Amino acid sequence: MRRVDGTQTVTLKNDRFLRALRREPVDCTPVWLMRQAGRYLPEYRATRKQAGSFMGLATNPELACEVTLQPLRRYELDAAILFSDILTVPDAMGLGLYFAEGEGPKFERPVRTPADIAKLAVPDMGSSLRYVMDAVSLIRRELDGAVPLIGFSGSPWTLACYMVEGGGSDNFARIKAMALNEPAALHRLLEVTTDAVIAYLAAQRAAGAQALQVFDTWGGVMAPHLYREFSLRYLQRIAAELPRGDGADRTPLILFGKGNAPYLEELAASGAEGVGVDWTVGLGEARRRTGGRVALQGNLDPTTLYASPEAIRAEAARALDDYAAANGGSRFGHVFNLGHGMSPDMDPEHVRVLVDAVHAHSRQG
Ligand code: CP3
Repeated sequence: MRRVDGTQTVTLKNDRFLRALRREPVDCTPVWLMRQAGRYLPEYRATRKQAGSFMGLATNPELACEVTLQPLRRYELDAAILFSDILTVPDAMGLGLYFAEGEGPKFERPVRTPADIAKLAVPDMGSSLRYVMDAVSLIRRELDGAVPLIGFSGSPWTLACYMVEGGGSDNFARIKAMALNEPAALHRLLEVTTDAVIAYLAAQRAAGAQALQVFDTWGGVMAPHLYREFSLRYLQRIAAELPRGDGADRTPLILFGKGNAPYLEELAASGAEGVGVDWTVGLGEARRRTGGRVALQGNLDPTTLYASPEAIRAEAARALDDYAAANGGSRFGHVFNLGHGMSPDMDPEHVRVLVDAVHAHSRQG
């Protein structure tokens, strides 16, 4: 299949993932895994050591390319995902990202007041985020059309959570208080962040990304009326405004959200090509409620990978069949994935069992 995008025309050797997102026929269900490149792989740990730090790794295009390709050398994955992080965008907006040992990501200069928000601007993709675009182009070159490359961003709400809290949070106390006490200020923060997300995804597409995913990791922590006002509204803006071509050359956009099950109808109507769901909703129910308007991605509970190979195979088959039963007996329009990212203590051999089981079971018809 030939695809033209920002920088190059290529023939993909394996286009199952893009076909599934267009809900076209496939020989078997495509599979990739959120956080497929990461600490569960010994070769990742070695490259990270060489880089010295996570940001050292993410900002070095050669090393970012290397770790992107590592899981593809081991497993028959149907897509590559850019190795980077969602927090590169607020970092480029001047917040000063750092990783405290054992504590996860933090910002030196969190956004706490209307004055802090007024200072924010969309970062220049060609300078402060150039390293991301360089990694995308390099990965595309090295992939040489083997599988498509996914680019990604955090959702405006999820990025705002880190920007306001200054790092991870158990209860999101600061941003939830801001939503109620200073909603206009939070909307200004979300507007500029949405502009940045759209520019960031468009730049990744121009550099060679062949699909784009937005991670709304923390949308599900809000009550429904607040989710609709502070997260969904901006996801809808991205789906409507992100330029991504037409017809067979359209670059698909996937909206993944943890805890997004109550909002599937609205997400399916957003104009996105795919919706990613976690394991708290069955794929059959998700298919019935979205009516075939979008492709669905998901949704095995990642902790399934701690179970036995037999259990992993059975759970993968169950998820595949749940989708197909609700989709008129057809497996088309489903991208298999986990319902959230992998963890560092997972067994690499269990990942192989899962990837092979998805292909084998779905190939049987
Ligand atoms: O999926 C992939 O293989 C691509 C790479 C990727 C990373 N982060 C690498 C990473 C992607 C897509 C992300 C997205 C991301 N980052 C999200 C959204 C997805 C999700 O998991 O919900 C979020 C919320 C973040 C923020 C973030 N970055 C956290 C909370 C952490 C700490 C995690 C930890 O376990 O320490 C990071 C760092 C990070 N990003 C690591 C990796 C592989 C681990 C850092 C290390 O190597 O030490």
